[in-house]
Amino acid sequence: MRRTIDWVNGAIEIIDQVALPGEYRTLRLTTVDELIGAIQRLAVRGAPALGGAGALGTALAAFAHDDPAEVRADAERLAGARPTAVNLSWGVSRALARLGDGPEAVLAEALALLDEDERLNHEASARAAELILEKCPRRPLRLLTHCNAGRLATVGWGTALGVVWHLHAAGHLEYVLADETRPLLQGARLTAWELAEAGVPYRVLPDSAAAAAMARGMVDCVVVGADRIAVNGDVANKIGTYGLALAAARHGLPFVVVAPSSTVDPELRSGDSIVIEERAAEEITTVSGTPVAPPGTKVFNPAFDVTPAELITAVVTEKGPLAP
Ligand code: MRU
Repeated sequence: MRRTIDWVNGAIEIIDQVALPGEYRTLRLTTVDELIGAIQRLAVRGAPALGGAGALGTALAAFAHDDPAEVRADAERLAGARPTAVNLSWGVSRALARLGDGPEAVLAEALALLDEDERLNHEASARAAELILEKCPRRPLRLLTHCNAGRLATVGWGTALGVVWHLHAAGHLEYVLADETRPLLQGARLTAWELAEAGVPYRVLPDSAAAAAMARGMVDCVVVGADRIAVNGDVANKIGTYGLALAAARHGLPFVVVAPSSTVDPELRSGDSIVIEERAAEEITTVSGTPVAPPGTKVFNPAFDVTPAELITAVVTEKGPLAP
């Protein structure tokens, strides 16, 4: 299966996630500016995939400039393209650390990071699947997931949807309920596309129906990805995750976060200081380019929220469940 982001003949190729599900196409990015543009309009998105983008973009910069100061300036702009997912700056730093050995060494590090991402997500999601089977007695299982934490959000395989692939292959999955229908429709556009492609039974539900689905007994467990995890176990993820965690707690349902350990920010004591990206008003005041609010409407459009550790059953990485 094609990777979400890869290095092909001297440039970065990505699956264009803005075009999905209407059109499956790839984009070829040959400069750091093109990559930053693709990150900011969400053509490539999802924390682990952004780690790959940071590393490969640093390789692009290393081949483009002879002067290390210019490479570092590009790398800094790239690391700041979006603020919340720690993986982006982590990928940049990891590749940049090899700059002294020349551009080929920077690229080799970036390619190693891509391989690792697929492997670690496979492991993390297998560990999370085991934990969910332990916590939830019902078979087959009904999972609810939020936003897109599938192969499109990673280099390959996925985190929360990685759990789905494992459970589906083992015959333990009845269906997936997929939301994030606002602000960006990423559950409807991307997660549904992946689930359909994999032949997993699913339904898309409006975000506002998730608590009602839990109240009706339609959900055994909520499983999501993460953009930044603080050392106390607080988790930043797509806006709406916190509300799902509150609803899951009210209904006594396990709430499991799955991520590679690169999403843990060792510098961060708690989620209070996570910088939350605020996005353009047009994402809310329009749907597919059509206005759905009066002209000039002011908007609150945070891309992420922080779920406190106390609402989370487990944060699972490739190392297993983490202790806060
Ligand atoms: O704004 P996005 O699409 O980059 O946000 C993505 C998410 O919030 C995902 O849930 C998260 O990155 C986990 S990806 C495995």
